[in-house]
Parts: sequence; structure tokens; C-alpha cells
Amino acid sequence: MTDAHTAGPFIAAIDQGTTSSRCIVFDRDGRIVAVDQKEHEQIFPRPGWVEHDAAEIWNNVQEVVAGAMVKAKVVREDILAIGITNQRETTMLWDKRTGQPVHNAIVWQDTRTDTLCKELGGDVGQDRFRRETGLPLAAYFAGPKIAWLLDNVEGLRERAEAGDLLFGTMDSWVVWNLTGGVNGGVHVTDVTNASRTLMMNLSDLNWNEEIAAAIGVPMQVLPEIRSSSEVYGEVKGGTLGGLLGGVPVASALGDQQAALFGQTCYDVGEAKSTYGTGTFMLMNTGEKLIHSESGLITTVGYQIGEDDPVYALEGSIAVTGSLVQWMRDQMGLIGTAAEIETLASSVEDNGGAYFVPAFSGLFAPYWRSDARGVIAGLTRYVTKAHIARAVLEATAWQTREIADAMTKDSGVELAALKVDGGMTSNNLLMQFLADVLDAPVVRPMVAETTCLGAAYAAGLAVGFWQSTDDLRANWRRAAEWTPSMDAEHREGEYKNWLKAVERTMGWIEE
Ligand SMILES: Nc1ncnc2c1ncn2[C@@H]1O[C@H](COP(=O)(O)OP(=O)(O)OP(=O)(O)O)[C@@H](O)[C@H]1O
Ligand SMILES: [Mg+2]
Repeated sequence: MTDAHTAGPFIAAIDQGTTSSRCIVFDRDGRIVAVDQKEHEQIFPRPGWVEHDAAEIWNNVQEVVAGAMVKAKVVREDILAIGITNQRETTMLWDKRTGQPVHNAIVWQDTRTDTLCKELGGDVGQDRFRRETGLPLAAYFAGPKIAWLLDNVEGLRERAEAGDLLFGTMDSWVVWNLTGGVNGGVHVTDVTNASRTLMMNLSDLNWNEEIAAAIGVPMQVLPEIRSSSEVYGEVKGGTLGGLLGGVPVASALGDQQAALFGQTCYDVGEAKSTYGTGTFMLMNTGEKLIHSESGLITTVGYQIGEDDPVYALEGSIAVTGSLVQWMRDQMGLIGTAAEIETLASSVEDNGGAYFVPAFSGLFAPYWRSDARGVIAGLTRYVTKAHIARAVLEATAWQTREIADAMTKDSGVELAALKVDGGMTSNNLLMQFLADVLDAPVVRPMVAETTCLGAAYAAGLAVGFWQSTDDLRANWRRAAEWTPSMDAEHREGEYKNWLKAVERTMGWIEE
């Protein structure tokens, strides 16, 4: 070992996200030792379609793991375990003999399965599988995306039925490759990722064969469902075998559940909201499965080893940070995401404009695939600065709608909201969020809670941390915003927002 070596023990986590893949090395206090990150291509073959190249993603994952190891100046012996978290629902199939993806992955935002979902709903409608799975039938979820691939790509259904193909969300793809790929890779998924397929029973955490058959997914392609925190296998073969060979692969959680875990929301009623590409608020509901009456979904929060699963209520918002990206890349109104704050701060208010970014329909609490984006309230007075303000306000109002639904379903009044993700570096937005929620908004020291949650779950599995109490002790507040808007103004603005939302509905006709 050289002088430059940093001695562990550490835990590494891979976050395979929608826009990028990262690897972070953490120490026992949950502090970041090193980060490496790489973006991958967003492929838009048609309006409403979004794809990723899974081979590119696996290459990037290997690069960022190696990169983080180099930056941290660690060797294999310093890494006690590696955990995985991932963009959820993004669906792929690969050939188990060659290890090659058979098509681009279909990303969670993709709406191509709308019609299929309507057909599946039949006379019952979008709640046909809700009691078993906690989910409405929506293009967002994975199962129908598998069926689409099998029925629209030449030869895939036959190959699937012959047992040659494996399905996975990105957790499965990464774990299979890490643990050897074609040479004995393990084909697993965790309960949180499986709970987003529309094919898992929330009550017993098993695949529901009847639903899978109804959707048109053969059981042979499905991975084994495991807990979120246990050793699935060890790193073998390939590039990473040399670097991390023998290191236990010890956690998998969907990114939003990982953030819940990283924010240490271990008690019933604790909630977090993550501001990335989209925004997702999850509330821990403990061992109780709450079926939403208000447009939220019911999902698995996490399961540690043999323990009972912990459930969560979730409000999913499709477009928040990606609206800022759209302002930058498609509109060219800003040069960087951070400039949205400068532009928005150059005016006092939204000038009467409201922007509802229903680009792929509306998720919670509406679940309307026929909605499309609108900017309402335009007059000759409105400038690009007002629009920038409306862009940021859209994220806050969408959160407010989810928070209201959560209070209705859970009976728990929001005392404070824990936040994380890239958009939380925007002060104007965070203050506006506190104002419209009329509750304090708090951000922890480590805003990379997604990776942190995966690291925590992996560290628990190998005994690096003993219990969730150890983890809770690591949570430290870095920033807090307190509400200061008067109630009358808030309610007036909320009413305008809801009017704008109404105007998105029914845009797409049969
Ligand atoms: N200062 C800012 N103000 C507003 N939005 C911002 C700011 N900085 C970043 N963003 C937005 O936050 C998002 C990136 O956040 P983050 O890094 O948490 O997402 P991510 O984890 O990469 O997303 P994913 O997991 O979906 O790949 C981008 O959509 C970007 O537009
Ligand atoms: Mg993320």
C-alpha cells in the first residue's frame, strides 16, 4: 500500500439514476469519502417515448465505481460491502446466454403503454389491480412495459417463453452483472423495486401469477424477490472483479425508498421528499398497508433481511427538475440549472403565470394520461423571468397537493418536511416550498440520501452498523426554511394553481 492510501472500513453505494450513474464511498458516520458520476444518453425516439441504452449504463456504472475507488484512495479490503439503488420502473430484457440487452430499456417516464393499460383496465378501469399491488394501472409501472417489448420486438415473446430472456429493473441488471453476469450472475430484485411492477402482492411479497398472466408476462423472465438488505452474492468477473472481487453485494432499493432510508424515516408518520428529475414524497406507514383514497400509491418502503416489511404511502410527481432541464436544453432560457434561481429572483412574483408540466400526463394525485402541459394566465406583461418563477412554483404546488393527500390518507399532519436531491440547492424554491406547505422544510448535511440509504442497507446486512438507531444518530440538519407567507395570499395562489391544473386535462383524445 502506498502513502496515498486511505484506510477503511467503508461502504460503497451505486446510484443508477435516470440522468446519471454515481458511486459514493461512505464512512461509518455516513459522511462522503468520495463521489464519481457520469451522465448517460436520454433517447427520445418519438413524442412520449424515453429510452436508455442499458449497455452504456453498465459501462458507466463500472467507470464510476472504479472512479470513486481511485478518488477515495481505497483498495478492495477497505470496502466491506456494496449497495445498489436505482431509477425505478425502467424496464429491460436481456439474453441470459450473451448478457446483451435485447432492446433499449423503456424509461419510467415513457407513455407508450397508455393504450395497453386502458385495455387491461377493461370495465373495472385503472384500479383493477390496486387492491393486490397498491398501484393504479398506469404507463409509469414496469409490467406493461415488459409486455410491450415482448409483443413489439420481433421474436422476443418466443425467446422469453423458451427461457432465454431475463427481465430486470436497473437493480437486477446491475446486481446480475456485478455478481458474474453470464458466469453465474444472480437474478434477483428487492421488494421495493418489485412493488413497482404491478405484479407483486403487497401483502405477501410474492409475484402474483394471475396478474402477470393478465398483463402477458411469462413467469420465467421474472427475478427472485428478496429483501432490501441482505447479501445477494459477491462481486465477480469483469472489470470490477479485479477491483472489488469478493466484496458482498448487500442491498438494493429503488431510489425513492433508498432516500427514505437515508433520511432515517424509520418511524411511522415520518416523511421525506426528494427533488431530482421528478419529485417523490414517501411517508413511512410501518407494518400497516394503507390503501389511499386520495390518489397516492401504496408501496414497500424497505425490508431489512428477515424482518417484516415496512410500507409507505407515496406521492409521485413526474416532472420537477426535468422542467428546469427543459428550460435549459429545449428553451435555451438558462445556461445551467442553477441560473433558474437568478432569473426567477429578478422579479417579485410570477406575473400571473402558472406552469403545469404535465409532459407525460399527470401522476399523483390525478393519474391522468390524457393531460399535457400548459402555461396559464399569460398576458403581454409576462417575461421569461416570470416563467422561471412559475417553473419553480410548479414544484412547490405539486408538493402541496401531495402533502394534502397524505394528510387525508394517514391522518398525520405534516410537522416538518425532510428534503433532499439536486433542486434543494435552490433557496428561492425551498423558501417557497415552506411557504406553500405552511411547514418548516429541513435538509440534512448529506443531501445524497439516495446513495446513503443504499449504503446504510448494505452496511446493516454485513454488520458494519448494528441497527437503525446507529443510523439515526448520523442525521444532521444543514439547513431549514420556515414559512412566512400570509394565509390569504397562499390560498389565493393555490386556487390559481388548481385552475391551471384543470386546464391540462383531456388534451389527448382517444
Ligand atoms: N439550483 C437548481 N435549481 C433548480 N433545479 C436544479 C438546480 N440544480 C439542479 N437542479 C435540477 O435537479 C435535477 C438533478 O437533481 P439530482 O442530481 O438529485 O437528480 P438525479 O438524482 O440525477 O436524478 P435521477 O436520480 O433522476 O438521475 C435536475 O433535473 C436539475 O435540473
Ligand atoms: Mg437520483
